[in-house]
Amino acid sequence: MPGKIPQEKIDQIRQATDIVELISRYLTLTKKGKNYFGLCPFHSEKTPSFTVNPEKQIFHCFGCGKGGNAYTFLMEHDKISFIEAVRNLAEKAGIPLEYSATESKQYQEKEALYFTTKFAARFFYQNLAAPQIGQIGMDYFKKRQLTPEIIKKFGLGYALNRWDGLIKAATQQSIKIEQLEKCGLVIPRKESSGFYDRFRNRVIFPIFDSSGRVVAFGARRLVDDNSPKYINSPETLIYQKRETLYGLAQTRQSIQAENLAIMVEGYMDLISLFQAGIQNVVATSGTALTPEHAKLIGRYTKNVILLYDGDSAGSKAALRGLDILLEHDLEVQVAQLPQGNDPDSFVKSKGANEMRTLLKQARPLVEFKVNMLAQFEDLSSAAGKTRVIHSILESVIKLKDSIKQEIVIREMAERFKLNERILFQELENLKKRGTFAPVSKVANGDGRQPVQPAEKIKIPTRKSRANVAEITLTKLLIRNPDSHAFIFHNLDIQKVRHPKLREIIEVIYSFFLDKKQLDQNKLISYFNDSGVASFIVSSLDEAKELKEEQLIASDCIVALELRDIDETIEKLQMKIREMENQKQNTEVIQRQWQEFINLKKEIEQKKFIVDPKNT
Ligand code: CTP
Ligand code: MN
Repeated sequence: MPGKIPQEKIDQIRQATDIVELISRYLTLTKKGKNYFGLCPFHSEKTPSFTVNPEKQIFHCFGCGKGGNAYTFLMEHDKISFIEAVRNLAEKAGIPLEYSATESKQYQEKEALYFTTKFAARFFYQNLAAPQIGQIGMDYFKKRQLTPEIIKKFGLGYALNRWDGLIKAATQQSIKIEQLEKCGLVIPRKESSGFYDRFRNRVIFPIFDSSGRVVAFGARRLVDDNSPKYINSPETLIYQKRETLYGLAQTRQSIQAENLAIMVEGYMDLISLFQAGIQNVVATSGTALTPEHAKLIGRYTKNVILLYDGDSAGSKAALRGLDILLEHDLEVQVAQLPQGNDPDSFVKSKGANEMRTLLKQARPLVEFKVNMLAQFEDLSSAAGKTRVIHSILESVIKLKDSIKQEIVIREMAERFKLNERILFQELENLKKRGTFAPVSKVANGDGRQPVQPAEKIKIPTRKSRANVAEITLTKLLIRNPDSHAFIFHNLDIQKVRHPKLREIIEVIYSFFLDKKQLDQNKLISYFNDSGVASFIVSSLDEAKELKEEQLIASDCIVALELRDIDETIEKLQMKIREMENQKQNTEVIQRQWQEFINLKKEIEQKKFIVDPKNT
């Protein structure tokens, strides 16, 4: 019911919002020229094609074609209605909105819950600060060496040693018990009517969503009695465990800045590291890692280090987490703590520097799995070795990127002194046997349907370097006539394999030969094709400095050259293996192979690229 909010208000809120700041909350943006670039949150990609234009306050993704303003972004990203997006930004901008009776019931309901959790978080926090009442909680945090600043930063609190501490305080503020129940803060009495507080005589860790609203609580016992160490909020309308990572609201910025997320298991682990100055941390808080968690992290960084307890349970948890993260195309490494340590105890006893050293020693997939499995398996026996290899291959299958798969296989071949080809063969066999859980079909990993690209030019699904290079080159040519001389001087157009892209490039080339100024509008009219049209228009969206473009162009041209060379090298390798199997002499073909390898090196060094300005 957008009509209910006056148009001026909608505009006012939009103008009070900085789209760069807004989008930065969700993904890493890097400034290049006037615009910002990042990995598109609406489709999966490896090369940033998502741009934000601060001048026009719009975003646009060259990959999937999505674009719009701050409202559109929130609607698309959080899958919310227009009205919710307006309210969301109004709140962030501090612009009050009158609540209308017509707005969605669910929205109102959620708002009431947010209000209640916020109240409860304040209440717990104030208890902790209160001189006598909170002393026991304060003593506990002191024992765990937390500073007042860190307590404030994470909004830590204390739940009174009473059955109705929160109930009383809330009722005084006219918060209905029904609301407390919906937030999971109170529990109905079994024997009689009425409710009692869920959290009593415990220190409180509020759990925030990534935009900083309190959605739930974790509560730790103060002494080692027989009660559960932690009690947590149940799932509610505003809290889904599988979608929430503890600490993200506080650590998001650091994760983006460091381009790395360190994953730990516990509240205290995260807070201790944070206090020690290692702030790019997230915690799973006792739940197993889910695809939603992986997706959430992926918005901020593609690099993850798992830092789990040094016991075998910790390592097993890491193994499971590893595969989920790999499936979501994150770069995963594992850091292993010494036996009997968790990140909190380690950083407290050894300090931040040793922690950093340990993190630097984090090892990728193969090594971790080998070391880990070597504890259980006898690697000197054939059977043991086979089991370890199969287990690693299970992870390799999860890698979406075939290049990464290849790298790992190479490492494995080396580590186990096996022929690469056998490992590749084994990988294929395992795939065919289908003994492995298929990679989730839902690309977003969050239960939503994958977003369909708006562009009709079918961009190849396999985003190889060369495929991306073709697209980038075409876009450069479309939007920057100054790049034509350089590109046409160095590019062999026949190396462009996508027929539509090659057609566009050929038309531009004919303009270039005729020394006609490229008119993009005219270019569009050459193709009676709406897909091509939107591709051309979208290419115009950004302008970069020429110097940088030349570098990009030459990288793309190199990628196209290498694609052909690599294919030839691969064919030769296959031939060599075949001949070796048949015990034939491979000398001649080996020499050929060596020549191509040398050629490849030269191409990689861009020796063939010429700047026509200098000739
Ligand atoms: N956890 C839980 N319920 C429990 C035990 C643990 O929810 N009964 C969750 C908590 O989020 C906890 C995490 O699992 O932070 C890791 O558990 P554990 O390693 O046992 O606790 P620590 O984080 O080390 O807690 P502390 O240092 O306070 O003992
Ligand atoms: Mn601990």
